[in-house]
Amino acid sequence: MMPKLPFISVVAISILAGAPAAYANSTASNAVDSGRADFMAYCAACHGVGAKGDGTVAEFLTITAADLTQMAVKNSGVFPRQRAIEVIDGRAQVSVHGERDMPVWGDWFKFEADSEGAGTKTEKIVRERIDALVSYLESIQQY
Ligand code: HEC
Repeated sequence: MMPKLPFISVVAISILAGAPAAYANSTASNAVDSGRADFMAYCAACHGVGAKGDGTVAEFLTITAADLTQMAVKNSGVFPRQRAIEVIDGRAQVSVHGERDMPVWGDWFKFEADSEGAGTKTEKIVRERIDALVSYLESIQQY
């Protein structure tokens, strides 16, 4: 079954599909680049190309998408890497807190990996993509 995503992000994803193939061979050195590619494909619609919380879709959301360049500043100057991983993945959070406005990317990336026949590598691919996204976010923090 398809994971539940807000309609609007499914539209954004289908418009931008094709960009994220870069993650397949990600290594530490190009994690930021593959994270950037996934960010532009999946996140920029709501968070904005510059991650300032001003994506084109953001104006239609009832609450604003977070400014992702201020995560370190808001956490006493330390980028909250582990929290970012959990928020983006979302699977653990949703089981505790229920529905949220942010899509559950763990479910979505799992769905994509399963559809591509990743088999036993599915969970590894999901973690690598989220990790690359977080590395990209860390690289764009404004202090
Ligand atoms: C449908 C719009 C939408 C899309 C697409 C989206 N987000 Fe979000 N995001 C939100 C909203 C809204 C919030 C504010 C928290 C909440 O209430 O869910 C948020 C919060 C966050 C946070 C927490 C920020 C903080 O300071 O705690 C992170 C990190 C984040 N998003 C990363 C991402 C990444 C990475 C992607 C792409 C894989 C993405 N988002 C795609 C709407 C979106």
